[in-house]
Amino acid sequence: MTRVLLLGGTTEASRLAAALARDGVEAVFSYAGRTAAPVAQPLPVRVGGFGGAEGLEAWLRDQGISHVVDATHPFAAQMSRNAVAACAATGTPLIALERRPWAAGPGDDWTHVADIEAAAAALPDAPERVFLAIGRQHLAAFAGKPQHHYLLRLVDPPEGALPLPDAEAVISRGPFGYDDDLELLRSRRITRLVTKNAGGDGARAKLDAARTLGLPVLVIDRPALPPRESVETVAEVLAWLHAERGV
Ligand SMILES: NC(=O)c1ccc[n+]([C@@H]2O[C@H](COP(=O)([O-])OP(=O)(O)OC[C@H]3O[C@@H](n4cnc5c(N)ncnc54)[C@H](OP(=O)(O)O)[C@@H]3O)[C@@H](O)[C@H]2O)c1
Repeated sequence: MTRVLLLGGTTEASRLAAALARDGVEAVFSYAGRTAAPVAQPLPVRVGGFGGAEGLEAWLRDQGISHVVDATHPFAAQMSRNAVAACAATGTPLIALERRPWAAGPGDDWTHVADIEAAAAALPDAPERVFLAIGRQHLAAFAGKPQHHYLLRLVDPPEGALPLPDAEAVISRGPFGYDDDLELLRSRRITRLVTKNAGGDGARAKLDAARTLGLPVLVIDRPALPPRESVETVAEVLAWLHAERGV
């Protein structure tokens, strides 16, 4: 029997959930539980960690999961590593639904850095107005550069004080559009952008707006992951499921 675990938290995961529900594929959608009001799904939803790779392994067995689709964010590396390990241990077929990384084009002024700490180290000493588009989890890495003004864009209002002395948090959930992002960068007089290389359409507008304004961008490269089968579209995941189990 086919019973899919869909590891979510991205726009693409929600699109895949809609396709699985439409096709009548039995599936469970999993959220980490990072946001107060996650996007509703047309599938049964579970929320919260599994307890590491071993916890996930036990959960896959208990739940009779036949296939796992990892549609988490490209920077959710721990979850993806755990999925590789637990699927190998249980012999469960695994596929990743992974967005293609963004690539610089003509007119872009990008500097690639290896991780969040390297992005903080690469900021200049002279004060700037930085759009720090990295979510809320790793803001403390920038506490060592308190001279900058930071613009943050968060899904939920921050609980408690931010680790940055001079910051403005805009509360908003993607996908984001070019006109709005251009207006955001202009109105806040942003001089530099810091972003993860998330890929996909939903968060790319800020890069197009930065190009229009000639702003330098620090692009944080994706964390390395173990080898796994990977596709870029919902249609390819569905084709994989058809080929695997004839669903
Ligand atoms: N990182 C980002 O930039 C980013 C951006 C947008 C959305 N997201 C989404 O936010 C979630 C958390 O991201 P993260 O960077 O904190 O991931 P992470 O560092 O890889 O995950 C840390 C732990 O959170 C739990 N977890 C993560 N994703 C889960 C899921 N879909 N279902 C159940 N448990 C999950 C797992 O706990 P256990 O070890 O206990 O199983 C995992 O070991 C992900 O689902 C991701 O798709 C992340």
